[in-house]
Amino acid sequence: MHDKGIDNTLKLLEEGYLFIKNRMDLYNCNIFETHIMGEKAICITGEEACKIFYDEELFQRKGAMPKRVQKTLFGVNAIQGMDDKAHIQRKLFFMSLMTEVHQKELAELFDKEMEASAYKWMNMNEIVLFHEAKNIICKVACFWTGVPLPESDVEKRADDFCSMVDGIGGIGPRYWKGKAARNRTEEWIRGIIEDVRQGKLIVKDDSVLNLMAIHREPDGNQMELPMAAKELINVIRPIVAISTYITFTALAIYEHPECYEELMRGDNNYFEMFVQEVRRYYPFTPFLGARVHKDFVWNQYEFKKGELVLLDVYGMNHDPNIWSNPDEFRPERFKEQKDRKFSFIPQGGGDPGKGHRCPGEGITIEIMKASLNFLVNKIDFEIPEQDASYSLSRIPTLPKSGLIMKNIRKKY
Ligand code: HEM
Repeated sequence: MHDKGIDNTLKLLEEGYLFIKNRMDLYNCNIFETHIMGEKAICITGEEACKIFYDEELFQRKGAMPKRVQKTLFGVNAIQGMDDKAHIQRKLFFMSLMTEVHQKELAELFDKEMEASAYKWMNMNEIVLFHEAKNIICKVACFWTGVPLPESDVEKRADDFCSMVDGIGGIGPRYWKGKAARNRTEEWIRGIIEDVRQGKLIVKDDSVLNLMAIHREPDGNQMELPMAAKELINVIRPIVAISTYITFTALAIYEHPECYEELMRGDNNYFEMFVQEVRRYYPFTPFLGARVHKDFVWNQYEFKKGELVLLDVYGMNHDPNIWSNPDEFRPERFKEQKDRKFSFIPQGGGDPGKGHRCPGEGITIEIMKASLNFLVNKIDFEIPEQDASYSLSRIPTLPKSGLIMKNIRKKY
């Protein structure tokens, strides 16, 4: 199936998260060709499509990521664009920093900071949850990794981490802001790693900062300073980005009072189901890109080496072939334990130890559960009249108001 038009970049900017899904629905297919930024792009969707996308023999990441995304979100030539043995070695290092112990540690630190903030919020007329959450989580992420962050810098650094994420879908000022934020952050983190390497800054041996500073590449050489900085940012930035999911979690609580009673019981299984449904229902990652590594045929379509392929993450989260009534928010759908490695992919699919799936899912889920428990069982609040709607044409998106809460009280 061929999409209409010579180049659909403008349509992608207009339709955002729904760009691929709209066409899959229109043509009733799971693959179509389009043109984006002057290049042919093959869009695919569904569980079977996801399985081939994560087949390392068929696809590679090298050259898949536009430079503009590397210059804002990921960092040029960092882990996201690596392949084969070099990728697996770097990936296993990342995964060693994100074990269950680390996940719990981070969730506990986050919970403590939220508690401390709640006392401050009680004296405030109202708060914007997204603003508070990004600052709190930036503070926690830096403390946990060992990166010194004076209180006076928290807001500015948190904003830079958020701008890097926000820059991906923007053109003009939004993109420049993201790029400037990345340059500033890389310079800051490079300086800190250098201080550790030169013994000017003493940190705990097992801190992420120290482990990144002393990390050696497979050839035995120390990781180059700019790369070590990019990869440390690849730990902190996505932790800060969980503030988006925290905001959507609060929105879900507000939009679904029918779940409240169950949430108040504080049952871990239900919390888990609820946050999974937040990650499915609300938009974050729109799609993923890779390049064909060798010619092959799938679904009667000939994929040629070098071609760009986009896998529709948002569309799969709302695909009626995968989810019954996908546009309903229903945590119970996760009650049934199923292999969802290639069908539920808000943070990528397959096996994180073998492919590019996000190594930070455990951290994300634990922090989301802690925020859910905090919002339901540790404070009372009111949600005043506001525009909490979010636009699917903006990538990335967020409730417009950032979620205003007022009359916050601690529950004792
Ligand atoms: C990769 C989403 C949180 C670290 C990814 C990918 C997605 C994703 C879609 C790419 C998967 C692929 O290319 O196949 C998210 C979302 C998060 C989140 C929506 C929630 C805010 C985290 C956290 C960390 C993290 C908390 C670390 C603490 C990474 C890294 C990669 C990655 C290092 C690159 C993996 C690779 O290329 O092998 N993430 N992530 N992410 N994520 Fe996350």
